[in-house]
Amino acid sequence: MIRALVLVAVMSCSAERDRDAACADCSGVHPEGILDETSPDFHGVELARRNWDFATCATCHGADFRGGSSGVSCTNCHTDGPTACVTCHEDQSGAHAAHRVAEVACAECHVTPDRWDAPGHIVDDVPPAEVVFGARAALTPVAADREGPPRFADGTCQNVYCHGDALHAPGGTATEPGWTDAPATCGSCHGAPPPSHAQAACATCHPQAAPHIDGVTQIGSMPGCGGCHGDPPTSGAHRAHLEAPWGFSEPVPCATCHRVPSAIADAGHIDSPLPVEVTPALGWDGGTCTNAWCHGDARPRWTESGGAVCGTCHAIPPATTVHATATTLASCATCHPADFVDHVNGVVDVR
Ligand code: HEC
Ligand code: HEC
Ligand code: HEC
Ligand code: HEC
Ligand code: HEC
Ligand code: HEC
Ligand code: HEC
Ligand code: HEC
Ligand code: HEC
Ligand code: HEC
Repeated sequence: MIRALVLVAVMSCSAERDRDAACADCSGVHPEGILDETSPDFHGVELARRNWDFATCATCHGADFRGGSSGVSCTNCHTDGPTACVTCHEDQSGAHAAHRVAEVACAECHVTPDRWDAPGHIVDDVPPAEVVFGARAALTPVAADREGPPRFADGTCQNVYCHGDALHAPGGTATEPGWTDAPATCGSCHGAPPPSHAQAACATCHPQAAPHIDGVTQIGSMPGCGGCHGDPPTSGAHRAHLEAPWGFSEPVPCATCHRVPSAIADAGHIDSPLPVEVTPALGWDGGTCTNAWCHGDARPRWTESGGAVCGTCHAIPPATTVHATATTLASCATCHPADFVDHVNGVVDVR
């Protein structure tokens, strides 16, 4: 049994030796350079030259490449076996590493074989590797913005959605990047912010954890106006005015204090930098309304907290002759409606 094996080994060994007539030191079956990556005889190079004929190697190294009659297992060095994807694709050129970190699947840029010997992969296939874009590169939010199908030409990616080349008006500095260019930064694919923007604090309008490069520009934390403003808006004295929790007045609509857009893209909405344009009649000076009658002579600051009470907007009672006899709160109702319904509506209600 042992003798038969040795015989087979010797026969195939001599076949291998015959093949390599140039071999200088034929002490082994293979030429000297079999393990030298810089040698034309390096076994990886030899395999490519042989159109990836692993079957020949298997005759001596075993069908499972674990040694066979040669006693030398390929898995000594290639832990996953010589035909595993990782054996040939661990070290990669150009921007591969960056895309791998970003978890971009091979299939977004290549037809991906399910076996090493799948048609079109390496067997009977001449270099270079074919770049065939998948669905992501071909995304097109606005049909008119696409100039052609995504393609890899002259070493660069063109019409590729991911890099901003099929966005609407992204203003990136490198929307057709070269495969060996320096890594992309926030300004490469779209401006930070894009030129259409008057404001740069992205998180005001785009949710921070938005899925990125997925074909949808996420705006606001939820659909509708509340996505950016909160519902209701929460800055300064907004809540006090919008909800009027103490009942001094009816809730104050947005339009009392500033224009209300009916759509996000309306002029005067987000096309100008902050601060908002408060209705001129209110005399907004950036901190308080200098003209508003609502607070009488008081000029509360927008960011003040604590709320208004009787006495902050007008004296109780006002120091006018007509009020000389009004000494208690209860007495007010003698001359004014008791129900407070029309309070702070711009008209002094006297019975
Ligand atoms: C005829 C039998 C035979 C065939 C066919 C054969 N080998 Fe070998 N191989 C051996 C033997 C035996 C050794 C042990 C070292 C020696 O004698 O050169 C070896 C050693 C090697 C080594 C060096 C391993 C080490 O740790 O030193 C590599 C690499 C190798 N073979 C790769 C291949 C590849 C790739 C193929 C197919 C293209 C192949 N061999 C085909 C018999 C063969
Ligand atoms: C002594 C270690 C060693 C042994 C044993 C070994 N290899 Fe390799 N092999 C390497 C090294 C080193 C490389 C080059 C670096 C790399 O690509 O990982 C390589 C590369 C390869 C490649 C990649 C070629 C490419 O184009 O990417 C193939 C395929 C391969 N070996 C097949 C085999 C086969 C088949 C055997 C067993 C017959 C074998 N190797 C045994 C060390 C070894
Ligand atoms: C973002 C697109 C992209 C992704 C993702 C990608 N590749 Fe590539 N790949 C390319 C481009 C572009 C080239 C062509 C480089 C050239 O021709 O200069 C290339 C070339 C190659 C080559 C030829 C050798 C080389 O390194 O240049 C191999 C092999 C390859 N890719 C395998 C893969 C595998 C395997 C994956 C997944 C792990 C993958 N690629 C993921 C774009 C990609
Ligand atoms: C024996 C080495 C080897 C193995 C094993 C291997 N590949 Fe490749 N693969 C290559 C080489 C070499 C190329 C470059 C082909 C070219 O230049 O045309 C390539 C190209 C590719 C490409 C680029 C598209 C193409 O076909 O040119 C992808 C994707 C890829 N391989 C994925 C895989 C996957 C997935 C596996 C495992 C199922 C795998 N490869 C196994 C050597 C290998
Ligand atoms: C004031 C709100 C607001 C802020 C702040 C904002 N965006 Fe936008 N962004 C939008 C709106 C609304 C759109 C959709 C309409 C448009 O393209 O102008 C948009 C669209 C985009 C688009 C898609 C552009 C296109 O061409 O399709 C990108 C990319 C983007 N924003 C990135 C950013 C970045 C990066 C920042 C921060 C540096 C930022 N945005 C800050 C509101 C905002
Ligand atoms: C590789 C290209 C690329 C790079 C680099 C890039 N972006 Fe984007 N970004 C896009 C594309 C494409 C969109 C369009 C919307 C989408 O598909 O997610 C986008 C959209 C956005 C948006 C809008 C919200 C959304 O995701 O829909 C924000 C905010 C944003 N990017 C911020 C950034 C920041 C911050 C950086 C740097 C850390 C950055 N981007 C780097 C391609 C890129
Ligand atoms: C993409 C985020 C976003 C969405 C969605 C959005 N807004 Fe705004 N809105 C803002 C920002 C940011 C400001 C600050 C305006 C500035 O820069 O002057 C603002 C300002 C306002 C103002 C203050 C007046 C002004 O125009 O400056 C009102 C009122 C307003 N928005 C109402 C709305 C309404 C109503 C909707 C729904 C139709 C809406 N917003 C949707 C971001 C948004
Ligand atoms: C009582 C007057 C008043 C009402 C009512 C009011 N706002 Fe405002 N709003 C202001 C003032 C004043 C500012 C300016 C704050 C600043 O510049 O710091 C402002 C600022 C804003 C801003 C800019 C960002 C911020 O939060 O400071 C937005 C957005 C806004 N308002 C939306 C709304 C919306 C939407 C409504 C109705 C649901 C509304 N406001 C109702 C007075 C009002
Ligand atoms: C936010 C400012 C403000 C606060 C706080 C306020 N008032 Fe007034 N009040 C006004 C204004 C402004 C008027 C002028 C008439 C009008 O617009 O209703 C007024 C008018 C009145 C009147 C005359 C009748 C009327 O409604 O026209 C009475 C009575 C009155 N206030 C009582 C009170 C009492 C009692 C409190 C505490 C519970 C109070 N006010 C708190 C602003 C205020
Ligand atoms: C005797 C009748 C009378 C009583 C009692 C009375 N008021 Fe008046 N009040 C008036 C009249 C009349 C006016 C309108 C003339 C004016 O503006 O002086 C008025 C106006 C006001 C105004 C508007 C002042 C302005 O400058 O616009 C306020 C605020 C007010 N009263 C609060 C009170 C409060 C608070 C009480 C109870 C403590 C009260 N009043 C009791 C008769 C009365």
